[in-house]
Amino acid sequence: MTKEAAKSEIQKLTEELNRHNHAYYSLSKPEISDNEFDLLLKELEVLEQKFPELASPNSPTQRVGGEITREFRQVTHQYPMLSLSNTYSIEEVKEWETRIHKLIGEEVEYVCEIKFDGVAIGLTYQNGILIQAVTRGDGVQGDDVTENVKTVHNIPLQLKGDGYPVSFEIRGEIFMPHTSFNRLNKMRLEESEEPFANPRNAASGSLKMQNSAEVAKRRLNCFFYYLPGTDLPFKTHYDSLQAARSWGFQISGYIAKCSTIHEIFDFVHEIDQLRKGLPFDIDGAVIKVNDLRQQEILGSTAKSPRWAIAYKFKAEQAETRLNSVDFQVGRTGAVTPVANLEPVLLAGTVVRRASLHNADIIAALDIRIGDTVYVEKGGEIIPKITGVKMEGRLPDSMPVTFLQFCPECRTALIRSEGESAWYCPNREGCPPQIKGRIEHFISRKAMNIDTLGEGKISILYDHGLVRNMADLYDLKQEDLLGLEKVYQDPDTGKERKMSFKEKSATNILSGIQLSRSVPFDRVLYALGIRFVGETVARKLAYRFHSIEAIRNADIDTLIDVEEIGDKIAESVVDYFLQPENMKLIGRLQVAGLNFSLNPDTIINKGTELEGKSIVVSGVFQLYSRDEMKRMVEAHGGKNTGSISSKTTFVLTGENMGPAKKKKAESLQIPLISETDFLQMVNEK
Ligand code: IVH
Repeated sequence: MTKEAAKSEIQKLTEELNRHNHAYYSLSKPEISDNEFDLLLKELEVLEQKFPELASPNSPTQRVGGEITREFRQVTHQYPMLSLSNTYSIEEVKEWETRIHKLIGEEVEYVCEIKFDGVAIGLTYQNGILIQAVTRGDGVQGDDVTENVKTVHNIPLQLKGDGYPVSFEIRGEIFMPHTSFNRLNKMRLEESEEPFANPRNAASGSLKMQNSAEVAKRRLNCFFYYLPGTDLPFKTHYDSLQAARSWGFQISGYIAKCSTIHEIFDFVHEIDQLRKGLPFDIDGAVIKVNDLRQQEILGSTAKSPRWAIAYKFKAEQAETRLNSVDFQVGRTGAVTPVANLEPVLLAGTVVRRASLHNADIIAALDIRIGDTVYVEKGGEIIPKITGVKMEGRLPDSMPVTFLQFCPECRTALIRSEGESAWYCPNREGCPPQIKGRIEHFISRKAMNIDTLGEGKISILYDHGLVRNMADLYDLKQEDLLGLEKVYQDPDTGKERKMSFKEKSATNILSGIQLSRSVPFDRVLYALGIRFVGETVARKLAYRFHSIEAIRNADIDTLIDVEEIGDKIAESVVDYFLQPENMKLIGRLQVAGLNFSLNPDTIINKGTELEGKSIVVSGVFQLYSRDEMKRMVEAHGGKNTGSISSKTTFVLTGENMGPAKKKKAESLQIPLISETDFLQMVNEK
């Protein structure tokens, strides 16, 4: 095939596939079978492999992912990503409407929409092509998750028609539909992974995955609801969404123009009725002023626009029977009571277990086995018991008594004065505490071994293969093959069995292998030294450069490090005094983990910035924002998050947020460029 012919064939296939994608994911009206679709996609893939110069970064073949992102680039939002002021009271919606009406002093029309419960995303399109996708982050800066977002099928990579602005941003909510969520959790259980607590967590976890091919499998979805910017060719918000729909964006059909508070109430009521039957989670309704000119007059506070309000639905409640109470031990040794309930349907899922908080709350609720209790779903892993229905209590019902001994290792529990939790003090011998420490070790901000999870750690522990972090590095393929685990099927509650297959074993080992290159500061954090969080670990690593130097430091030297006080210093000294910890470190050193900073990352050992308080903002040419922050610390400076009169200067990259810029100007804080900064600290 000639290049010319290939070009036109690629174009034809691309258009066809985009059309089918839209029909399938946005309109739910597929015109061809999955198989036929896959064949077309394969055809395009083959052509793109043959003529790589013709492959567009926005080709439908990109939907399957494959790009690996090590660290997400931080991007400053062109328009800050504000949140919405929200209320649970319909009365407050009425007050808001009255206020708006008064402020505007003329007729106001509103647009009522669904409030989607997912993860906010801002997409930038140039010449109709998706070029960037950024998460909300702190509202000023977010993570560049473009590669992952490209795998979400109903997000257009290339817009339809030609009516869109040359460059614009659109915002929406990425979410995981119930079917995808249930399927994912089932798969996770089969793989001995901890299931996600709710679809929102699953969506947000998926967007942060490093391998976009894995994100593609998560079957995320997206609705769009806002085009920021003041130079758009529309008079109303409603029109902007209609136009966006015609360019190929998925806009919800549940959207209404309302002129009176009664119409707003009707919409809210209708949505509240509807939500139980929707195939995805929503958590309220959003009411927005429709006219963009009126929106501009109303403006925004630092946190949220005045022209919109979110009315949030109350958490759904269910009534069921308390059958029994289990006690669980966490990684710190804290013991938490968990209720076993008569299965009950709550917000789309069957609930069998609920948290009972702690001994004090059990006593306060005077809860008894056999009671009818109220359960609510919040954002937590398991639902909560919020109350007891006193009528109908059986006369001989038994009060719930708290344990005196650890349910796992039989050690007597202790409770410190003023604390509500009971603890098992057997740190070295209590299984859930040991497993918990290993889970911390593999977690994302520590060693980031994402091929292992809570379930797999548990299997390894139960088979006696892993007793501490160092044992992970001795694992071999043959140790893993065929290991079995019995788990509870979430749909039926029945027990099922799974076993490690070859692929899963190879995956685990390659994840462990990769972790050998994790830098020293994160290894230090992964050790789980009491009170040594991510930041403190980084400070220690950059001040002392090696584990030996930290071990040799006395309390005074440690306290000398910024942000380290008596409590942390004592805990660090104590850690190195325990022979089992020294033995563990010795084994991890033999396994090849980094116990000193790589000389290249010790950017300098200077003191040029001592006593200076610096805000790092924007995107830089030569270094990532995190590297810039490390450089500030390596040169003795202090990183702070927000600008105040105490800030010495703002290290400014491209796209610094307008709000930050304004604040720096008003406080007359100097803005220092990347080049000037590097000169200041003698770096190239
Ligand atoms: S409008 C400046 N519309 O809710 C206002 N937001 O709690 C832009 N959300 O950050 C947001 N559904 O992530 C808007 N129909 C909707 C929404 C919606 C969900 C999210 C969004 C926002 C959060 C605020």
